[in-house]
Amino acid sequence: MNKNFYITTPIYYPSAKPHMGHAYSSIIADFFARSKKIQGSNVFFLTGTDEHGLKIQRAAEKKGMNPKDFCDEISITFRELSKTLNLTNNDFIRTTEERHFKSVQNLWNILEKKNEIYLSKYSGWYSVSDEAFYTDDEVENIDGVRKSKISSSQVEWVEEESFFFKLSKWEKPLLKFYDENPKFILPESRRNEVISFVKSGLKDLSVSRKSFSWGIKVPSNDQHVIYVWLDALTNYLSALNYPDVKDKLFKDFWPASLHLIGKDILRFHAVYWPAFLLAANIPLPKRVYGHGWILSGEEKMSKSKGNILDPIEIIKEYGLDPLRYYLIKEVSFGNDGNISQEKLEKCINSDLANNYGNLCQRVMAFIEKNLDSQIPNKIEFTNEDLAILENFNNSYQNLLDYIDDQDINSYINYILERLFAANKYFNDEEPWKKKDEIIRLNTIIYVSLELIRKITILLYPIIPASALKVLKVFEIKENEIEFKSIRNNNYLKYGKKINRMSILFKKIEKND
Ligand code: ME8
Ligand code: MG
Repeated sequence: MNKNFYITTPIYYPSAKPHMGHAYSSIIADFFARSKKIQGSNVFFLTGTDEHGLKIQRAAEKKGMNPKDFCDEISITFRELSKTLNLTNNDFIRTTEERHFKSVQNLWNILEKKNEIYLSKYSGWYSVSDEAFYTDDEVENIDGVRKSKISSSQVEWVEEESFFFKLSKWEKPLLKFYDENPKFILPESRRNEVISFVKSGLKDLSVSRKSFSWGIKVPSNDQHVIYVWLDALTNYLSALNYPDVKDKLFKDFWPASLHLIGKDILRFHAVYWPAFLLAANIPLPKRVYGHGWILSGEEKMSKSKGNILDPIEIIKEYGLDPLRYYLIKEVSFGNDGNISQEKLEKCINSDLANNYGNLCQRVMAFIEKNLDSQIPNKIEFTNEDLAILENFNNSYQNLLDYIDDQDINSYINYILERLFAANKYFNDEEPWKKKDEIIRLNTIIYVSLELIRKITILLYPIIPASALKVLKVFEIKENEIEFKSIRNNNYLKYGKKINRMSILFKKIEKND
């Protein structure tokens, strides 16, 4: 079993400050990073900003700034967002860094040396907003404005000398690779999309631009800058100290375990990226997962619609863990999902405050009042007690598989089912009526504590700060959390004093 796990988010364009969509990808990536870490994996988690290209150059010009100063200013807001989101990223890469230049130019030189690149002329449509080339068939005329049918963004006509990558030659090898690696692209529907795109025929790809200068120069021809997607994708290698392939980071973590991306950039990650790597003879990543859109109300967030949700505002109002929980639980992973204040508040009240928070609160309050804040001493499990505790053991392999398959929905459903069972157990057993059956009372409380502990470990990757508050009651520290301890039914030490739990979630009261 490979214990090293390398997970990446897209590197975001610092053309404007981050929004909820960026927060979403980062939070999901953090969920997987934390999950793998508590399973004992050696995790490397990368995020960052994608700072070259015409999109950034134009955004900077609009502000009357030079592109580097412009990027410096906005990239910081992305870096700060990773802190605000409590991400466990190991690195934050910027494509304007020296280490990245070296890596991109090295990859270019290899491709050129291997005859995978040639000089010719590009004429066709280009979307600056997507930094993507589109064919005639992919463009439509809407009220006199040419737009990409795929992304709906505006395109412009481009005619200039350009280097081309021989993408067409990788059509068959790519199809073979998808076939041999059925889980390379997930979810399944996206895999099918990619396969049919590749089957419809790949044309050689323009990989340099001559009409502007904000980018990494082609080493052999300084009139050209390298196409921003070839530049950007290489970040995944740069952060591991590529081209030094003997470096420990590179040896430990390449190929990447999981590139987590939104469905908008699937083609770049699932077609172009593996083709570049095949051509350069570098091993391919193990998985590309293309998640869905976060919609604002029922619509996709966009500047023009003025419905962009600011994660910072939402966190100020509701707290981080409620937002993390909402995005991970309420959005069916892989599909589009929306976020509204009303749904968020409902979710906080019903799931977090009533269901999980209340269970913890009731059990802890009972121990404080009746057992002098001590974990009970003499206990005797009945078969029913054992069954509810053993459930985690029996589901253990499934839970590992859910994480490895990015099946967040099944993972969270399991937690909800266990929360329901734990609440029911405490209610049905009625410990408050068992004050003269001390062994039974002790046992009920012990089982309830173990259930809280196990559920909290499952919740940790989702709501880390809140989970830590609960684990602190038992003096379990963050670096001591072990996923496998959910199999243990006697983890908690008999007779040990518990700490007081701080408030977990406040219920949102509506006055109107
Ligand atoms: O595409 N819902 O950067 P970008 C969910 N620089 N996720 C969303 C989203 C939404 N409404 N909006 C954005 C780029 N995202 C390139 C990537 S990678 C080598 C280069 C997330 O700033 C989602 O992950 O446009 C999407 O793929 C990414 O942000 C695009 O961010
Ligand atoms: Mg975008």
